[in-house]
Amino acid sequence: MRALFFKCQQLVILDQTKLPNKIVYRKLRNYEAIISAIKHLQIRGAPLIGIAGAYSLVLAAIKNCNRRYLTKVAEQIRSARPTAVNLSWAINRMLAVINNCQIATKDLVKSLISEAKAIEREEESNTFKIGEIGANLIKDNMTVMTICNTGWLATVGIGTALGVIYTAVKQGKRVKVYVLETRPLLQGARLTAFELSKAKIPYTLITDNMMATVMPNVDIVLVGADRIAQNGDVANKIGTLTLAITAHYFKVPFYVVAPTSSLDLNLNNGKEIVIEKRDKNEVIYVGKKLIAPKSADVFNPAFDITPASLISGIVTEKKIFYPPFKLNN
Ligand code: MRU
Repeated sequence: MRALFFKCQQLVILDQTKLPNKIVYRKLRNYEAIISAIKHLQIRGAPLIGIAGAYSLVLAAIKNCNRRYLTKVAEQIRSARPTAVNLSWAINRMLAVINNCQIATKDLVKSLISEAKAIEREEESNTFKIGEIGANLIKDNMTVMTICNTGWLATVGIGTALGVIYTAVKQGKRVKVYVLETRPLLQGARLTAFELSKAKIPYTLITDNMMATVMPNVDIVLVGADRIAQNGDVANKIGTLTLAITAHYFKVPFYVVAPTSSLDLNLNNGKEIVIEKRDKNEVIYVGKKLIAPKSADVFNPAFDITPASLISGIVTEKKIFYPPFKLNN
């Protein structure tokens, strides 16, 4: 199974809002449909959003090759989800192709398709490199805790934090996983549990507020990232900071696993990262069921910032960075 693929001028996506109950593939035929799918988390996970963003510019260019138009569209796509830097990173690569093209013709569409495919290919191969490098941290019989979903649903290839687990298991190591359900949208319960069930890797699903109770039984925490500042501060799914603080208290190593497309070396530290705020309905409803007064005042940030001081290491496709983090080396 694959989270997305580009075929016959369409982006075909596995609608992640329907998982784990239904496997629904959708054909997206224009960039507006891709933006909507990104906003509504039908496509999600920082690396996957980046790839989808690249293909959305391809679809826009198929309709209209005008450079000014495409630049405007690029900014709309970029703002669909502001925290995941992979989206901006991929859009910048596509814009470089647009700006380098002398005459806007069908050649531009061809060049954009080949750049989007290159991004997809590179990101896919990075997940396997990350898996190999990260699996060195996993010993036989280890118990891992993870949050959100960082597997093949969040990338192309095998994923990041979950990709490390897949690789370790492939190497013959026995691994047990504690999966945090990840309120409010339950990416852990719906998606990570789905992936691990399919892979037949033993896991235990817990609610987020059980993490401290379980942490003494955990050997290592592995999480993904949506944006990593130069000093090693990491934006990731809301709850990651609580997880890092808990791991620190119990002296459990806490590793961030991400491709270098998640690095934002323009930012000095996490305070400069823009955190996406999402709709209150995501908190007051679980699925279609209202679980709080409709009038409740709600705070719903999609991500939090884990300070570099709580991070044991950052695993990328190039190497593992250790503190003090100098991510441009
Ligand atoms: O809101 P989501 O589901 O897109 O959030 C995803 C995460 O926070 C992941 O941990 C991150 O994007 C890394 S995915 C390899």
